[in-house]
Amino acid sequence: MKLESDSEINYDLKAVLTASERAKNLVKQILAFSRQTKEEKMPIQMGLIAKEALKLLRSSLPTTIGIRQNIQSRSLIMSDPTQLHQIIMNLCTNAAHAMREEGGTLEITLTDVELDSDFASTHLEIQPGTYLNLTVSDTGHGIPPEVMNRIFDPFFTTKPKDEGTGLGLSVVHGIVKDCGGTIMAYSEPDKGTTFQLYFPIIKYKAAEKLGDYEITPTGTERILMVDDEKTIIDINKRILKSLGYTVEARTSSLEALECFKAMPDKFDLVISDVTMPLMTGDLLAQEMMKIRPDLPVILCTGFSKKITREKAETIGIKAFLMKPLLKKEMAHIIRMVLDEAKRPVQ
Ligand SMILES: Nc1ncnc2c1ncn2[C@@H]1O[C@H](COP(=O)(O)OP(=O)(O)OP(=O)(O)O)[C@@H](O)[C@H]1O
Ligand SMILES: [Mg+2]
Repeated sequence: MKLESDSEINYDLKAVLTASERAKNLVKQILAFSRQTKEEKMPIQMGLIAKEALKLLRSSLPTTIGIRQNIQSRSLIMSDPTQLHQIIMNLCTNAAHAMREEGGTLEITLTDVELDSDFASTHLEIQPGTYLNLTVSDTGHGIPPEVMNRIFDPFFTTKPKDEGTGLGLSVVHGIVKDCGGTIMAYSEPDKGTTFQLYFPIIKYKAAEKLGDYEITPTGTERILMVDDEKTIIDINKRILKSLGYTVEARTSSLEALECFKAMPDKFDLVISDVTMPLMTGDLLAQEMMKIRPDLPVILCTGFSKKITREKAETIGIKAFLMKPLLKKEMAHIIRMVLDEAKRPVQ
């Protein structure tokens, strides 16, 4: 936030962010694959997610790869935003990989199409009707015909060990099927590859309000932040302050509890890490909620085996944030939790 946008450090930091993002995605991928995450389906305008994912990709792809986007549809589909984001990242990462030696063009198209009974008769999972059609194509090295029927298999990869796990397409496949859609691949060696995805559209038109997705919400509430890593505290404190919040931070859960006990009404929200020495974040939250049962708590985690979303909900945790925390995501979730807490209990 503080650096000139064309400074070298800014460039390096972007690379660090991209790498962390990749690590985060890999964790998500593994979790999605092992079905350990509970998806949250809602009406989503895929176009907005696609644009956001492409912005992220642009900064990580070499300039020898051109990106062309043709996002026309504003239709809604029923899905989980994180999973849709993952679909686009997985397909585009594959495409970029196939073009990294010689460069080329990545093209993403989003339109509404009518699938007729002919199509449905060859794709048993599809009923005739209107579908959202996402096309991701590249001009890369292509897929040899002899492996074409294996690309969606889990752990099938043609990449060296440290570059591919072979989970990308099987995760994409799983998500598309789960949305009631279908996916197909076409490829010509040395010419390129195209993935065609179809998602059932939900009927009502995209409400204008969904466009607000781009706006970062702010606030003036008081937040207590707990994380045993000082660097994380420093960064998040700065981010939260820039959003308008007043922040108090502690690097130990015991100190945080003490601070809270001294002034339980001073804070509107607690944001805590889960894995910390002496007292984990979920226990800390429980202790605090003994004093103030209405206290909203958000837990942050890379992934903690110790605590599942269901368990967190039963002890009254309001939301989860997945590390690394991004400003926008944090801003949205914090606002949501605070607004929720303000609503009178029915
Ligand atoms: N756009 C593409 N162009 C050429 N080959 C592709 C393309 N997309 C997928 N493939 C082939 O399909 C294989 C499986 O893809 P998948 O995304 O499932 O795994 P991966 O990319 O190898 O590893 P991971 O996605 O887990 O990092 C790839 O290894 C590659 O051989
Ligand atoms: Mg892949």
